[in-house]
Amino acid sequence: MRAQLKKFIDAIGADSIAIIPAAHEARRSYDTEFKFRQDSDFAYLTGFPEPDAIAVIDPASKKPYTLYVRPRNPEMETWFGRREGIEGTVKNHRAHKAVSIEKFASDLAKLIDGHDKLYYRFGVDEKLDLQILQYLSGQRQRRLKTAYPPHTIIDPTILIHEMRLHKTPDEVKLMQKAATISAEAHVLAMQKVKPGMNEFQVESLIEAYMRDNGASGVAYNSIVGGGENATILHYVENNRPLHDGDLLLVDAGAEYHGYAADITRTFPVNGKYTKAQREVYDVVLDVQLQCLEATKTGNTVKGRQELSIELLTEGMKKLGLLKGKTKDLIKKKSFMKYYMHGIGHYLGMDVHDAGRYFTDQNAKNSRPFAPGMVLTVEPGLYIPPDDKSAPSKYRGIGIRIEDDVLVTADGNLNLTSTVPKDAGAIEDIMNKNNK
Ligand code: GLY
Ligand code: MN
Ligand code: MN
Repeated sequence: MRAQLKKFIDAIGADSIAIIPAAHEARRSYDTEFKFRQDSDFAYLTGFPEPDAIAVIDPASKKPYTLYVRPRNPEMETWFGRREGIEGTVKNHRAHKAVSIEKFASDLAKLIDGHDKLYYRFGVDEKLDLQILQYLSGQRQRRLKTAYPPHTIIDPTILIHEMRLHKTPDEVKLMQKAATISAEAHVLAMQKVKPGMNEFQVESLIEAYMRDNGASGVAYNSIVGGGENATILHYVENNRPLHDGDLLLVDAGAEYHGYAADITRTFPVNGKYTKAQREVYDVVLDVQLQCLEATKTGNTVKGRQELSIELLTEGMKKLGLLKGKTKDLIKKKSFMKYYMHGIGHYLGMDVHDAGRYFTDQNAKNSRPFAPGMVLTVEPGLYIPPDDKSAPSKYRGIGIRIEDDVLVTADGNLNLTSTVPKDAGAIEDIMNKNNK
């Protein structure tokens, strides 16, 4: 059993039963599926890689961990791939017991009855929701004469997500690997890009490097935006030519053994920032360095967000994008015209990872940083191409700089520090004869 599952079992206690489903395959077109990606909560607890499984966790049992799985089926496996089946699930995945998923519905009453609490998240898997509701209404018919259904149903998500928020040393190792592969891919993009290439060629260079180095793929759709495409936050078309004199914003991260990296760099297609580009770039870089430094115990998520707003608002004033008192510009949210997203997010199995950002029921008290959390630091400035109020030299410039940071006992560790972000260092890398 994985350490994560053991911890979950201890937390839910002996009078409980938990039902945690795997993801299902998703249709891409006609009779073709997307490449399968396991549900993050299920993967975190079980590590089991197949679709359609269900984990049943019964802490009071001597064998608390049962997996319902797809049974072996030579014909299906010939068409659609290998299955662990009953034996393989016990042997290779440390389940105490494995049962065919075909038996799950008829086993349900036997599994749940006799426990006070059912840990199950409604609203994700409709078919399973219905099976559980049918079980509960069936028990209601029998009243409590012969049945002992749970009196409390609890969403296990909060518990699992709190666990996921605080990374173990083993998880940090995987995240460092995802970060290192991604960092190297970004350096490769800097080395290879040149005017006349298309955005998709940079995308393919990066993604090929990730796969070539053991990543299962990207952790999210890569953003490769040249020129004013960099001002579109989730630009994923990645199909326009790259011009001499343009900047290129690349936001791309690998997924490695289920863990994400999330890096952004913005660099000149021809290897040299213009004066105007450099002016905006250096404002964003300065904010990034200060917010990275502020990602440590003693500070909160909200405190860091406010710091980024204050520093970027000052920067916008310096660049002539905004005029007025910083305090007033912040109060009126004037900064949102050029900086409209957060300074960062939790990172882990999901790129926007699990865990609460506050500590109270009113979502008012911001969460303090604690060792083991991993967060991104990603300030940006995006000046719309048609923004008549901005100095013309800055119109159409979009810049974001993003690193992944582990909070430690005495500060933090930047997992993505090997991709240069100082403008001069980027130019040096781009101009070493490596095209
Ligand atoms: N790549 C998604 C993000 O930066 O949040
Ligand atoms: Mn991010
Ligand atoms: Mn990103």
